[in-house]
Amino acid sequence: MRLAGEIMAAGMTCVSDLKQKIFQMVTQEKPMRILETGTYLGTGSTRAFVDAAISSGHSLQFHTIEVNEGHFELARKNLSDALLNFKCSFYMWNGLSVPASLIPSEIDVDFPESVITDSFDESFYHNEIVGFIQDDCISKAILAMGGFPDMILLDSAGHMGTIEFCHLMSLHDGITPFTLILDDTMHRKHYKTMELVRKDKSFKILHESESKFGFAIIQFKP
Ligand SMILES: C[S@@+](CC[C@H](N)C(=O)[O-])C[C@H]1O[C@@H](n2cnc3c(N)ncnc32)[C@H](O)[C@@H]1O
Repeated sequence: MRLAGEIMAAGMTCVSDLKQKIFQMVTQEKPMRILETGTYLGTGSTRAFVDAAISSGHSLQFHTIEVNEGHFELARKNLSDALLNFKCSFYMWNGLSVPASLIPSEIDVDFPESVITDSFDESFYHNEIVGFIQDDCISKAILAMGGFPDMILLDSAGHMGTIEFCHLMSLHDGITPFTLILDDTMHRKHYKTMELVRKDKSFKILHESESKFGFAIIQFKP
């Protein structure tokens, strides 16, 4: 695997191409329920969803999940101005996206040479999700929304992406169409998620980008 820091001085936030795509998709597709994992500081993908929803003006619910309490509080602060103009339902969940029982005890290292990682030190990933105050926020958000989201962005920890995807699909009824956005598709986060998506004929990849560590826009339509 290749170290992210040796390829580019990468921050955690998503690239502007992805923010533009988010804006385009929300204003054109007008999703009613949006779910995001990995709020981080609220200034990247989360802000793109909020700005797009304000601009679109249609009625929607937006739920975003962040495990780290410090990030969660900063995101709340960073988003407060933008949210003054947000007329729809906005929920921030401070907790782990998946059930705690799904946290892997060992970090998967079975990836091709080309795949990007943030660190070779397992503790880097274990430390990203310690001390959470609640778990399975994906299920909780879906329950609170009253239905499966029609637009979903998965962008949490590097070792959790594929686990989140599998958990999300375990909650799906197998028929409801939705748009899935994966950030970091050339990274360990979603390298294997993309393998699963490519094997399943219900998924259609609408757009794939190599910007930063890659992202993809995928449609689920059985
Ligand atoms: C790559 S950053 C997200 C970047 C953000 N989407 C943006 O565009 O600015 C990942 C974030 O996910 C959080 N995180 C990691 N694993 C998580 C999990 N299992 N559940 C919820 N949040 C998680 C981290 O604390 C971090 O803030």
